[in-house]
Amino acid sequence: MIDETTGALPVEGVPAARVLDEIRGLRAADRPTHGGRLFAYVYDPGVAGLDELAQAAYAESAHVNGLDPTAFPSLLAMENALVGAAARLLGGGPGTSAPDVVGSVTSGGTESLILAVKAARDARPDLAEPRIVVPVSGHAAFAKAAHYLRVALDPVPVDPVTLRPAVADVAAAIRPETVLVVASAPSYAHGVIDPVAEIAAVAAAAGVRCHVDACFGGWTLPWLRRLGAPVPPFDFAVPGVTSISVDLHKYAYAPKGVSVLLHRDPGLRAPQFFAYADWPGYTMVNPVIASTRSGGPIAAAYATLRHLGEDGYLRLAAVTRDAVAGLADAVRAVDGLRLLAEPESTVVCFTADDPGLDLFVLVDELTARGWHTQPQLAYAGLPASVHLTVTAAVAPRVAEFGPALAEAAAAARAAGPVVLPPELLALAGSLTPEALTPDLIAGLAAGLGLGAGPAPDRMAAVNTLLQAAPVRLRERLLVEFVGLLQRPAW
Ligand SMILES: Cc1ncc(COP(=O)(O)O)c(C=O)c1O
Repeated sequence: MIDETTGALPVEGVPAARVLDEIRGLRAADRPTHGGRLFAYVYDPGVAGLDELAQAAYAESAHVNGLDPTAFPSLLAMENALVGAAARLLGGGPGTSAPDVVGSVTSGGTESLILAVKAARDARPDLAEPRIVVPVSGHAAFAKAAHYLRVALDPVPVDPVTLRPAVADVAAAIRPETVLVVASAPSYAHGVIDPVAEIAAVAAAAGVRCHVDACFGGWTLPWLRRLGAPVPPFDFAVPGVTSISVDLHKYAYAPKGVSVLLHRDPGLRAPQFFAYADWPGYTMVNPVIASTRSGGPIAAAYATLRHLGEDGYLRLAAVTRDAVAGLADAVRAVDGLRLLAEPESTVVCFTADDPGLDLFVLVDELTARGWHTQPQLAYAGLPASVHLTVTAAVAPRVAEFGPALAEAAAAARAAGPVVLPPELLALAGSLTPEALTPDLIAGLAAGLGLGAGPAPDRMAAVNTLLQAAPVRLRERLLVEFVGLLQRPAW
């Protein structure tokens, strides 16, 4: 039975204005995408009029299909312009040491990384069991790529103090079957830049490709450097770097759905493509994973870049840099909190040294005060932490954040750490993923307040339970919990 008030396919169509009102009603429960109080998921420059421009550009090209660049040359022109801009910003193009850079526009960082791995894998058809070397601080999308593409993942630990991999460990992880070595500029979790030049050198010495994941930082580090920050070499200026990814839907402030994957030359890119003519339909060639692709995100990104321009991005980077400094000071001012890394990009990441101050409770207290931060679970000797992705829109809020953080920390101390029933903790610590039964999952979810409805306001208990579980069990619990959310609405 369709719910006639909310069902997606009512028996009788609903007038346009009401549909939009309904969507706005649904959106009211979302985290605020604007206003500088959200430190993950959304990248907001706080520039008046930019949303309207991007939306208008999106609408112009929403129905254009990237499936066939000859049918829609507008899209090809905009894609080539985006790739050219990204390449130029990242040390490639005419007059540089990487004059033959080419690239593709993808739907996001994950797609760019999957394709970087695919290109590396398919360049070595001689290898039965290709492998990639990825520091554990590398984005989880590399593990996803390895999983999807049946490539083995060789993780490299990071130093608990510098949060970077040792170059010797990277070198030692490279084997004859290695097709790709990865470095991050910077890592998402902690915002630290890997020793790209050294990693690229050991990869090159072994004759292996080196991908720099600059999905997060590729559109900020160049501006921060121009502003005088000591940004180490990380782009095509570094010999041995064979590909770079940069997400335009992050710090280029384009709406979601646009990333760029660059290769140093067309030969490196060629195995990324997929062409198929062995069927009776249209001849198909796909540079990226999707076949039909909306022109909307690409046009919106093109409009955003052209409107903001270099001067705009430089201004936004300066504002963001100052906001990062202000937020880091706010963390330093709270007893018991400690920056996990000195900020060197646009991330502020902190941990708690005081056992009476539970970070997951602190995150909930901040949420209750309208500040949305991202908890990160303890992992492989690294403590639990709180991640703040800092965007330009945060700048006007920095002065309010300090008192809010201090207040939230006091409230978290007063509330005390989460205490889960010992038998639950013991279960989380000892259960194997295979031993999870539907009943056990339903019981766990109910006990934690998770179910078909929206997630509970307070997530500290969920995070504490996940943290108590070994990694493979964490993954299984996440799958099961999200499976509970994704149920058809009739
Ligand atoms: C360094 C890095 N790589 C890759 C990704 C994945 O990007 P996306 O979420 O657009 O797929 C992210 C996302 O935060 C990231 O920070």
